[in-house]
Amino acid sequence: MQIIIFDDAQQVASNAAEWVAELINKKTNPVLGLATGSTPISLYKQLVTKYQTGQLSFKNTSCFNLDEYLGIDEGNPQSYRHFMNDNLFNHVDIDKGNTFLPTCAQGQNPREQGLAYEEKIKYSGGIDLQILGIGANGHIGFNEPTSSLASRTRIKTLTQQTLSDNSRLFDKDEFQPTLAMTMGIGTILDARYVLLMATGKSKAKAVQDMVTGPLSSMCPASALQMHENAIILLDKAAASQLEDQNYYQWANVQNLKINQEFGLYHNY
Ligand code: PGA
Repeated sequence: MQIIIFDDAQQVASNAAEWVAELINKKTNPVLGLATGSTPISLYKQLVTKYQTGQLSFKNTSCFNLDEYLGIDEGNPQSYRHFMNDNLFNHVDIDKGNTFLPTCAQGQNPREQGLAYEEKIKYSGGIDLQILGIGANGHIGFNEPTSSLASRTRIKTLTQQTLSDNSRLFDKDEFQPTLAMTMGIGTILDARYVLLMATGKSKAKAVQDMVTGPLSSMCPASALQMHENAIILLDKAAASQLEDQNYYQWANVQNLKINQEFGLYHNY
């Protein structure tokens, strides 16, 4: 894992945007994995700005989102399709026909839908860069604690903690889905690079478990310890329970020097 600690959430977003821009500008048909939630909103704002200022075009980019709720359709403002349109897709030149979420409409078979999503990712050539947030319970996507570390896209029952963490986004009388389709941990581990963003004190324990805890399905994000190219972007608050902060800072200075001398090497 490469742990990079920034002063604040804005710097986390700026650095994440640089990673995305580098991929899109480097590869002819880049494939991005995207996340919803509060954390990546500032990343999407920066990507929209880069598009508007002519630094970035999404014309040839395909996107696969991590997850989508069950029981609400894409026209519902609570759907993750709506979130993505609202925060990114409506404001850039991406072909919406190349943007995918793991949906399962009423009457569809979630197992077949999960398999079809896996096939679609494979057919696209695989995900180059997967953006991730992390839940306070260590989840990535909606892979809740005890999810198989080898899981693939499937239907998942959300935990009480996730439901209560996300209840802030729903009105009191509004239907809050308790089921979702999510990429599996195995699906996420197949991405060539993963970029996890975590900000705020509420994530500090999950970040500690992910980075230094045992590899365990109790902290699904700890599976990233097995990934060859996992980049973890943290603000100071999210990093506050990590013991070796000085080492991570020092290692990053060294990495910058190595990159300067030998060039950036991202094997997309
Ligand atoms: P958040 O969610 O960005 O809204 O904190 C992250 C997650 O649950 O993965």
